[in-house]
Amino acid sequence: MSSIPAHTLNDGTTIPAIGLGTWPMDDVRAEEAVSGALGLGYRLVDTAANYHNETGVGRGIARSGVPREEVVVTTKLPGRHHGYAETLASFEESRQRLGLEYVDLYLIHWPLPRLDKYVDSWKAMIKLREDGLARSIGVSNFTPRHIARLEDETGVLPAVNQIELHPLFPQEERRAFHADKGILTESWSPLGRGRLPLHEPAVVAIAEELGVTPAQVVLRWHIQLGVVPIPKSAAPERQRENLDVFGFRLDPAQVAAISGQVRRRLGGDPETHEEF
Ligand SMILES: NC(=O)c1ccc[n+]([C@@H]2O[C@H](COP(=O)([O-])OP(=O)(O)OC[C@H]3O[C@@H](n4cnc5c(N)ncnc54)[C@H](OP(=O)(O)O)[C@@H]3O)[C@@H](O)[C@H]2O)c1
Repeated sequence: MSSIPAHTLNDGTTIPAIGLGTWPMDDVRAEEAVSGALGLGYRLVDTAANYHNETGVGRGIARSGVPREEVVVTTKLPGRHHGYAETLASFEESRQRLGLEYVDLYLIHWPLPRLDKYVDSWKAMIKLREDGLARSIGVSNFTPRHIARLEDETGVLPAVNQIELHPLFPQEERRAFHADKGILTESWSPLGRGRLPLHEPAVVAIAEELGVTPAQVVLRWHIQLGVVPIPKSAAPERQRENLDVFGFRLDPAQVAAISGQVRRRLGGDPETHEEF
């Protein structure tokens, strides 16, 4: 297994080019999966207060024996805790559940524009970063409009925006916007939840041609787009397969073929989705 390349974020910290998703694992499964994945070489782990598995993720990190400073731990602020004081309190609860002194990457999970409190939360996130409790701060499911407001009202851009991104929803415009602003794109549901995109004829044909699996083709596509996929797998053999994507390359025609013509969102629309 080759070692994992890293991206440098706009705040100077680094993040591995691929990570492990943990939704919908419970604490017991998360502990097992995270400790196993770190043993295989993963160094980026994604959780959220709303996944109800931060305790398991923290235990998995401790159990792995991998030095804390080698692991990039991401967690997220839930909708019910938007607001300045609420964000500080929610972060502290997450940090306690994780059993960590600091969190590497703290994200606002959804913008919830109807609530209109994400700028207040962002101000609290800036404070958490200043206090060294969150090394990097970012957002998830934010549109350019939401990000522009953060920039206008605080002058601080997110380091990361974690968005739905897979071959059926390649998000060209969002990626271009993020690149222009120096924001790293992370892909959630990078395998399309392990379903449709893995059966796309173009993906299957390229996998056969290269002698790799459809999941590896899709993850390599993310890597070559310059985005960070966080595939979830609880199965050690699939975790290994998903990490083993640095020993082959797609040519530009293959990258374009995988980007498909059909557009299909699997998750919520950030302008309307409400998750508390
Ligand atoms: N920010 C957000 O709003 C948001 C939303 C959704 C998800 N997320 C994050 O993104 C992570 C990943 O997204 P996701 O879990 O929705 O979808 P995903 O990673 O695209 O797909 C996960 C599914 O694919 C299967 N799978 C994994 N590796 C495979 C392989 N090599 N071959 C075939 N199937 C494979 C998994 O099953 P097994 O476990 O059985 O291997 C699981 O059922 C989540 O875990 C979470 O951390 C964030």
